Amino acid sequence: MSGTPDHDNTHDDAHDDAHTGPIKTPKQLAWAVLFAFVAPVIIIILLANFVSSDKKPAAGSEGLGAEAVAARIQPIGSIELKDVNNVATLKTGEQVYAAQCSACHATGAAGAPKLADLAAWGPRVKTGYEALLTSALKGKGNMGAQGGGDFSDFEIGRAVVYLANQGGAKFDEPKAPAAAAAASK
Ligand code: HEC
Repeated sequence: MSGTPDHDNTHDDAHDDAHTGPIKTPKQLAWAVLFAFVAPVIIIILLANFVSSDKKPAAGSEGLGAEAVAARIQPIGSIELKDVNNVATLKTGEQVYAAQCSACHATGAAGAPKLADLAAWGPRVKTGYEALLTSALKGKGNMGAQGGGDFSDFEIGRAVVYLANQGGAKFDEPKAPAAAAAASK
């Protein structure tokens, strides 16, 4: 029983495939064109990029740079050097007051004499600038040394003058450290 219709069809299909190749529709042709021409161009571009990429830092590798590593392994805590002779970088009395002293002296917290409270400051002002400065530097009563901050003595002095003058004193701005050193020579 050779040559049944079924058998013939199967045979013919296989035969056609062998001669026409895999591309049978315009859509398949479009894909074939794409992969034959466009894909190689893309691959070449990517390869060229890859070859020249060693000069650019790869994503995430900035963390291995010398500076980044140094920043990460630096000892805990660092010191900041203040140029106490450069008056321009130092805070004014008002700035120090706002940053450090106002916490107590604006409200009278902890029994602090309030800013511009003449009655509270009057007797203190009479003790003189040096006495007030000493209190501010070393602390007095509920006030910690330097008012609890880390300003230079000169800056504290400016804040004392600011506070005291608001409280009725007429103290002069303290001399800058360099000027004071020069004056004492
Ligand atoms: C933690 C609160 C607090 C802070 C912050 C603070 N003070 Fe005082 N201050 C006080 C108290 C309380 C007194 C009153 C102390 C007393 O007479 O027992 C006082 C008193 C003073 C006096 C008068 C001292 C005297 O001999 O009568 C001066 C001057 C002064 N403070 C300056 C400053 C300056 C300048 C700062 C900021 C750098 C500052 N204070 C920050 C609480 C504070």
